[in-house]
Amino acid sequence: MELAERRGVETRVYEPAEDSALLAAVAGERLGSDARVLEVGTGSGYVADRIVREVGASVVGSDVNPHACVAARERGVAVVRADLVAPFADDAFDAVLFNPPYLPTEPETAWDDWMERALSGGEDGRAVIDPFLERVGRVLAPDGVVYLLVSSLTGVDAVVERAGEEGFSAVAVADESFPFETLTVLELFG
Ligand SMILES: C[S@@+](CC[C@H](N)C(=O)[O-])C[C@H]1O[C@@H](n2cnc3c(N)ncnc32)[C@H](O)[C@@H]1O
Repeated sequence: MELAERRGVETRVYEPAEDSALLAAVAGERLGSDARVLEVGTGSGYVADRIVREVGASVVGSDVNPHACVAARERGVAVVRADLVAPFADDAFDAVLFNPPYLPTEPETAWDDWMERALSGGEDGRAVIDPFLERVGRVLAPDGVVYLLVSSLTGVDAVVERAGEEGFSAVAVADESFPFETLTVLELFG
């Protein structure tokens, strides 16, 4: 890929940050090498790649952003362009990871920009999290687990409540505080 083209791809793909690192560390400590793992919204493939390298688990990524799919594939991650869990078979995964778009955003925000799709969670921050919680149970094997990154900006209690409505029990397994938000990783069991 030419340098100019490469720069274009990079500005359209979420750059791994503290949230990515927290999710990778927490999931990496808890997953075994025999786990079949899906990372929804894999972006650059950073989290999926860490789980493959550090745990030895089998990981596939999904992302709605085609530029993210290119970047993740170039990192060596098996990736499918998809909306959330749509193309995957029932009961296919022992674990599903997601660092979702979660920033509360004004209604007039454009959704035709890939970085907005990576960051914006709609007015309440949960526009992508809620459908994820509604659909993820279908692809989880019995006793499967979800690791979901959430922020105090999004409302952790509201996410836990919605997860409960979808049949999950949620436990916060890690927190990290920054000046403007606290990041939490929720562990969800069906
Ligand atoms: C905050 S970024 C996280 C990227 C990467 N997992 C990380 O932690 O660095 C959220 C990612 O979710 C993707 N995404 C947003 N909506 C999605 C959807 N409906 N289905 C699949 N991926 C989605 C975005 O394109 C973006 O790559």
